[in-house]
Amino acid sequence: MPAISFQSVCKTFPPSRQQRALGQPGLRAVDDVTFRIEEGEFFGLLGPNGAGKTTLISMLAGLSRPTAGSVSVHGFDVQRDYAQARRHLGVVPQELVFDPFFNVREALRIQSGYFGIKNNDSWIDELLHSLGLADKATANMRQLSGGMKRRVLVAQALVHKPQVIVLDEPTAGVDVELRQTLWQFVAKLNKQGSTVLLTTHYLEEAEALCNRIAMLKQGRVIALDRTSELLKSAASNVLRFKTDMNLPWALAQHARITGRIVQLPAKNAHEVEQLLVSLREAGVTVEDVEMRKADLEDVFLDLMAGEQTPLEVAR
Ligand SMILES: Nc1ncnc2c1ncn2[C@@H]1O[C@H](COP(=O)(O)OP(=O)(O)O)[C@@H](O)[C@H]1O
Ligand SMILES: [Mg+2]
Repeated sequence: MPAISFQSVCKTFPPSRQQRALGQPGLRAVDDVTFRIEEGEFFGLLGPNGAGKTTLISMLAGLSRPTAGSVSVHGFDVQRDYAQARRHLGVVPQELVFDPFFNVREALRIQSGYFGIKNNDSWIDELLHSLGLADKATANMRQLSGGMKRRVLVAQALVHKPQVIVLDEPTAGVDVELRQTLWQFVAKLNKQGSTVLLTTHYLEEAEALCNRIAMLKQGRVIALDRTSELLKSAASNVLRFKTDMNLPWALAQHARITGRIVQLPAKNAHEVEQLLVSLREAGVTVEDVEMRKADLEDVFLDLMAGEQTPLEVAR
């Protein structure tokens, strides 16, 4: 039985008043999504802002109802068997939501009570310790920094020892230390058998942690494979150089540009040569030219830009 199953899931938001006045339809945020995550997987759900990741997760958590299709957790339908499905699931939400009136330990005890668990203090202590919160146990929630609140949200999601852990951009805007603490702990839980579903903007995290990855674009799954296969599918090399000039649009569309540094995908030596010719013809002077192996970010940008390579576009 899969840990998570999405079956033909759609979510359409009704049009806003303004959209209705213009005769525009609502937004299909999730469009016919079907896939399964097996027990024990570390699964990545990637996609640009607005791709529908959080919408998909809120349907998984039973917080929002699919317009069509169904979602189940360990065989329990999230709509029909909400309590059972919810018990198997620990969700760390993207937004920092918390109750300002309690301290950290109280918040975790209340969450335990919500799942009918009494005398949970030894697990709560372990969570506090593993997440670097031990000295904050009696701190009031509203005194905590953003990063510390994020840690408490993770602890809250895990308080009932769920078999399936869902993290919606847990490392957005948090410091390196928390990222490391968090991944160490989540990887340990995964080794012990927990299933993990993660969305993140940090593709190097996904590449390092996830055994399989689905890429979402405008509500649709446009790629789903083992991480190693996705990496093979990309143009295998990247041409990297520095320039102070603007690239021709056709190349710029496919480039990773960070300040002066430009990176362009290329399948082989012949394509590299052609890229250099295109740059010369466009009058772009380059320096510090080098090649490197493609990573997950290259695959992602390639897929998001469409199926064409920069050379096909340039022609
Ligand atoms: N409650 C809502 N009402 C209307 N539109 C929404 C609502 N929630 C999300 N959306 C829209 O659905 C799309 C997907 O959003 P979201 O799932 O948050 O994307 P992601 O998490 O991948 O960034 C976006 O265009 C967003 O504006
Ligand atoms: Mg989101």
